[in-house]
Amino acid sequence: MVILISAQNMKKFPYTICNMKVFMTILMFTTVNESKSIPDPHQRDQLLQQEASQQVGGRVDLTAAEQRLDSLLHKLKEQEMVAPHFPPAMHFFKAKPYIQKSPIFRLLQKMPKGAVLHIHNSALVGVDWLVMNVTYRPHCYVCFTWSGSVQFLFSTQRPFPRWGCSAWSLLEHVRATISDVSAFDKSLMKNLTLFTEEPDVAYPTQEVVWERFEQTFMAISGLITFAPVFKDYIYQGLQQLYDDNILYLELRAGLSKIYELDGTIRDSEWSIQTYRNITEQFRLEHPDFVGVRIIVTVHRILSLSQVEIALKETLELQKRYPEIITGFDLVGREDSGKPIWYFREVLSLPTEVKAKLSYIFHAGETDSYGTDVDRNVLDALLFNTTRIGHGFAVAHHPLAKELSRKRRVPVEVCPISNQVLKLVSDLRNHPAAILMSEGHPLVVSSDDPTLFGNAGLSYDFYEVFVGIGGLSANVGTLKELAINSIRYSSLPTVLQDKAMIIWQQKWDKFVLENSL
Ligand SMILES: *[C@@H]1O[C@H](CO)[C@@H](O)[C@H](O)[C@H]1NC(C)=O
Ligand SMILES: *[C@@H]1O[C@H](CO)[C@@H](O)[C@H](O)[C@H]1NC(C)=O
Ligand SMILES: *[C@@H]1O[C@H](CO)[C@@H](O)[C@H](O)[C@H]1NC(C)=O
Ligand SMILES: *[C@@H]1O[C@H](CO)[C@@H](O)[C@H](O)[C@H]1NC(C)=O
Ligand SMILES: [Zn+2]
Repeated sequence: MVILISAQNMKKFPYTICNMKVFMTILMFTTVNESKSIPDPHQRDQLLQQEASQQVGGRVDLTAAEQRLDSLLHKLKEQEMVAPHFPPAMHFFKAKPYIQKSPIFRLLQKMPKGAVLHIHNSALVGVDWLVMNVTYRPHCYVCFTWSGSVQFLFSTQRPFPRWGCSAWSLLEHVRATISDVSAFDKSLMKNLTLFTEEPDVAYPTQEVVWERFEQTFMAISGLITFAPVFKDYIYQGLQQLYDDNILYLELRAGLSKIYELDGTIRDSEWSIQTYRNITEQFRLEHPDFVGVRIIVTVHRILSLSQVEIALKETLELQKRYPEIITGFDLVGREDSGKPIWYFREVLSLPTEVKAKLSYIFHAGETDSYGTDVDRNVLDALLFNTTRIGHGFAVAHHPLAKELSRKRRVPVEVCPISNQVLKLVSDLRNHPAAILMSEGHPLVVSSDDPTLFGNAGLSYDFYEVFVGIGGLSANVGTLKELAINSIRYSSLPTVLQDKAMIIWQQKWDKFVLENSL
């Protein structure tokens, strides 16, 4: 059949171009129908079901209540997907207010999410607390760097000047000379996070955003490595995670030195004990919180011998604190640091001395495919990493992907971090979508939540559930991701079982309360 529409007819034609398309589609469909070559609908259903069963959560049996919750979430998600502002397609800094309004997000906040396995110690507590509480403590000095940032130091007397920074001033005195203190405090907060209204203007390239990122760590460091703050900070961090319905934390932390007001330096043993003691205190007050373990991190720009010293120290510490020190990792931007293979001599040490220290490497946080950095994923696996931090590049490496899957080495997906650090802009295009659809072992994590202006895990769960997973992700997906976070933790099986019991009770209660 041929439709002839002259220009003249076109004007009279009662349909818009859009309607024309619909009309023609119907015609075409009719044609196909007549030829009786429609594929077998039963076969189609079977294929669809088969595919759905392969995804993360695809084989989870759902109770009646879970199914009711699932229908509700499905309906909400359909509505969210056609709304004018679809948050996963936007930069998180712009999407955040829309996410906060989302009923799905509010459910995810209440959802027991299990454990957070990839989060750095400098990004554990929101900047509001850092500025409004920490910088208001006595003896807080500030200096202003030449690059427009700030640094802090607590001291009884004015500290020696630092290169690249103005003379130190007592923050108390600075505030006394300023008329708009609340605007000043806001500017301090801006120094401690990457958050900005116009992220694409402020951070045109990966280089620029990473530079600001490292600068931010420097600014935070002087505040949180002050011994009294360090203690309160850990407690506050656990509280924020607990409030986001997280029951266990695996924290990536450097062996940075903690200082006292008189300049005394505490060693790393003191820090480890403090992590342990504060966690114990927190657990006394929150018996349903399972605990904290530490993955010791060292920056990948360091030399072989520096990394060797840190690794040896970690092995020593782990002997004395095996219930706290659980792993070792290299951190910092992979693209500008040294690849794992560069450190191969040093990294073979634990196996040689038969230590039980796991590697839990950042690997494949890059889009420079085919480079040495891109081989980190494979090298991490060759060094028996127990999880892959980010693994953004994993989907591009079929062999590494297969190894990771066979050995049950999960990928720690941190969507908001990947977006802010400019590996992906629309989160529907995040490569974890492929991994999710294949049922690859995955956990959701938040990397540096407070630097990105969020806290805990709920925002990253939202991006995974609504953006990366799309309409395919369902309650089974959420359940499997939460269970994964406990089963892929480095807790011994007995403690995993204990955590699972606590989580299951909370989960059942959550499902019941939200599936009416
Ligand atoms: C800061 O928080 C601690 C608890 O972590 C509290 O005891 C203290 O009073 C607070 N200080 C300020 C200045 O808000
Ligand atoms: C950091 O704080 C200083 C002092 O208020 C301010 O001048 C500067 O603009 C802030 N930097 C950023 C990146 O917000
Ligand atoms: C941690 O607690 C133990 C036992 O109470 C104590 O002996 C130790 O000094 C504490 N460590 C730190 C760094 O506070
Ligand atoms: C990785 O694990 C395998 C199997 O346990 C072991 O043979 C190998 O030595 C380990 N590799 C390294 C680099 O530790
Ligand atoms: Zn990280």
